[in-house]
Amino acid sequence: MTNALVIYRSKYGSAKQYAEWIAEALSADCIDEKTLAPADFERYDIIIGGGCVHAGKILGLQKLKLAASRLQGKRFAAYAVCFMAGDASYEKTLLERNLPPRLALRAPLFVFPGRVDFTAMKRMDRSLFNMILAMLRKEPNKTPAQQALLDNSDGVCDFTNRDAIAPLLASL
Ligand SMILES: Cc1cc2nc3c(=O)[nH]c(=O)nc-3n(C[C@H](O)[C@H](O)[C@H](O)COP(=O)(O)O)c2cc1C
Repeated sequence: MTNALVIYRSKYGSAKQYAEWIAEALSADCIDEKTLAPADFERYDIIIGGGCVHAGKILGLQKLKLAASRLQGKRFAAYAVCFMAGDASYEKTLLERNLPPRLALRAPLFVFPGRVDFTAMKRMDRSLFNMILAMLRKEPNKTPAQQALLDNSDGVCDFTNRDAIAPLLASL
């Protein structure tokens, strides 16, 4: 039987939700990146790592990158959760900024739609997000998700979708 591990970093829960959905589909172990020791990788055949995007950076990829650069004979995949999922040019930039090409070959990146919960957001995050909203207001061609954020910037905008994990599962 194949052993699979999902590691994640999540600040407000949606990247964790995706980790749990992937783990359930694969009967995999699911661990918060912060609590994982590198030696734990050895016993797995498939390692998937991902997390939320903050200011263009995918959190939670450090240990996956370490494993993919050192371990042979295993399969890898990476995922990112953000509100810009589905925007091809944003996803391309996200990939280029977060995964060197050699690693991207070993651990292809999948981008999933996230959840923005303005009611739970910490003050520092809210200040940063206000800057993101100001940039979005100037965007001439807004995606439905971007418009939803602007229309509901004191509530919860939940774009998470379990079906989004299908391409990642199919890649393994
Ligand atoms: C401070 C902050 C910065 C963010 N920056 C980005 C960003 O640069 N691009 C993006 O698409 N989403 C961004 N997001 C949206 C998150 O990636 C999205 O809400 C994600 O679902 C959060 O995952 P989590 O629930 O696991 O924390 C940001 C959210 C916060 C709170």
